Amino acid sequence: MRIGVLTGGGDCPGLNAVIRAVVRKGVSTYGHEFVGFRDGWRGPLEGLTRPLGIPDVRGILPRGGTILGSSRTNPFKIENGVERIKANLAENGVDALIAIGGEDTLGVASKLTDLGVHVVGVPKTIDNDLGATDYTFGFDTAVNIAMEAIDRLHTTAESHHRTLVVEVMGRHAGWIALHAGLAGGANVILLPERHFDIEQVAAYVEKRFQTQYAPIVVVAEGATPLEGQMVLQDQGRDAFGHVRLGGIGQWLAGELEERTGKEARTVVLGHIQRGGTPTAFDRVLATRFGLHAIDAVNDGDFGTMVALHGTDIVRVPLAEATRELKTVPMERYTEAEVFFG
Ligand code: F6P
Repeated sequence: MRIGVLTGGGDCPGLNAVIRAVVRKGVSTYGHEFVGFRDGWRGPLEGLTRPLGIPDVRGILPRGGTILGSSRTNPFKIENGVERIKANLAENGVDALIAIGGEDTLGVASKLTDLGVHVVGVPKTIDNDLGATDYTFGFDTAVNIAMEAIDRLHTTAESHHRTLVVEVMGRHAGWIALHAGLAGGANVILLPERHFDIEQVAAYVEKRFQTQYAPIVVVAEGATPLEGQMVLQDQGRDAFGHVRLGGIGQWLAGELEERTGKEARTVVLGHIQRGGTPTAFDRVLATRFGLHAIDAVNDGDFGTMVALHGTDIVRVPLAEATRELKTVPMERYTEAEVFFG
């Protein structure tokens, strides 16, 4: 078989580990051939390819990013997009595709499956918010980066008797905020799943100052206060209507300064959480996903996605993976509240 591989959506540590595992097992165990499609769905759409053999995947296991490049191109939003993809797959002699991506990339994969394209999906996102899999690779790396930042911020916050607001990624789900906040000993954690009361956050911050320690507030980029507590100005959203990185963090620091009379600073971790080398956990998970994805292709089990259930890698229908976003259950959040203040 000749198999195309692509990576779509926001990059995340571990993508190269998947590509390496797919190619290594695909060539050595099954004797398949590979072609890399560049920049997500733009690759098959525009016929942008690169060679993908064993020499091309040598040494990439610890490297962040993706050797294939990525984009958020959606062929269903482009005129004749699907026809162009089918034509380019045929021209490159591609029998099947492995699409590594998040909700959007896998959503496209699922629709293409319904239109007769042979696709197997591999889930990725640092946000860990994909349904149908217990974990996605990239999440553990992001949490570790954020945890290390929080550890460092504790000491500088204490020296200057300041509040430090740490904004982490997570537009719709607060998994990174919750895990990094717990691991880093944050004094308040704010998630998109629950509107927060700015008065209550200020009270936690005050309480923390009373014990001589400076507070760390971890906030997910998509967290918002109770209705009426903040009017998001136009500059708080980007052209796609998403809350701008840094928007909520900056706002919080200003409000907390005003309410507590103590200096506050904001640190926006942003894309640092997505860059660089993956943790051991993410390398292993990504590698196992890759090994099982090529098995699924070899079995002709198209329209499926590999997923982690407990410690097992299983196959689930692609449609199931994109059906529902996996957000933080409230009982997980309230568990953490014992550390607030
Ligand atoms: O979905 C992953 C993610 O990192 C989100 O946490 C974040 O909101 C978004 O991507 C940022 O996307 P971009 O790289 O387009 O700014």
